[in-house]
Amino acid sequence: MSAIDVVTRELLDKTEFLALVTEGSDGPHVVGNWGDYLRRLGVSGDRLVLPAGYYRRTEENLSRNNRVQVLVASRSVQGGHGPGQGCVLRGEAEIQTDGEFADRAKAAFPWARGALVVTVDSVEMQL
Ligand SMILES: Cc1cc2nc3c(=O)[nH]c(=O)nc-3n(C[C@H](O)[C@H](O)[C@H](O)COP(=O)(O)O)c2cc1C
Repeated sequence: MSAIDVVTRELLDKTEFLALVTEGSDGPHVVGNWGDYLRRLGVSGDRLVLPAGYYRRTEENLSRNNRVQVLVASRSVQGGHGPGQGCVLRGEAEIQTDGEFADRAKAAFPWARGALVVTVDSVEMQL
C-alpha cells in the first residue's frame, strides 16, 4: 500500500512550497523547494522528485544519514479543525546526478545538477 494517500496527494497538488529537514553534524538543516517544481517533475509512486541546483550541505548530511522529514501545507485543503491542512512526510532521500530522475530534472530545469529524490514511507497529518 502506498504511503501517499488521497489527502497527502491533495496537499502535494496544492502546497506552495516544501520544507525538507536533514540531520547535520551540528543539528537540523532545513532547505526549501517549490510545489510547482515538484508538480512539474511529478510524484512517482512513493517518490517525490525535486530539482537539485545546490543542496551541497543537504547532500553531505544525506551521506551520513539519509532520513528526512518534509513539511507541506495548504489553506485550501480541509483540515480537522477547518480550512487548512499540512503534513510531515518521512522517508529516505538521495541526490541523483544521473539516471531517469536526474535526466528529467535537467531537462525541465537547465540549472539543475540532478534530482533530489525522497522515498516516502510514512505521513503524519498535523491539523
Ligand atoms: C521556496 C524555496 C524553493 C527552493 N527551491 C530550490 C530548488 O529547486 N533547488 C535547489 O537546489 N535549491 C532550492 N532552494 C534553496 C535551498 O533551500 C537551499 O538554500 C540551497 O539549495 C542550498 O542548500 P544546502 O544548504 O543544502 O547547500 C529553494 C529555497 C526556497 C526557500
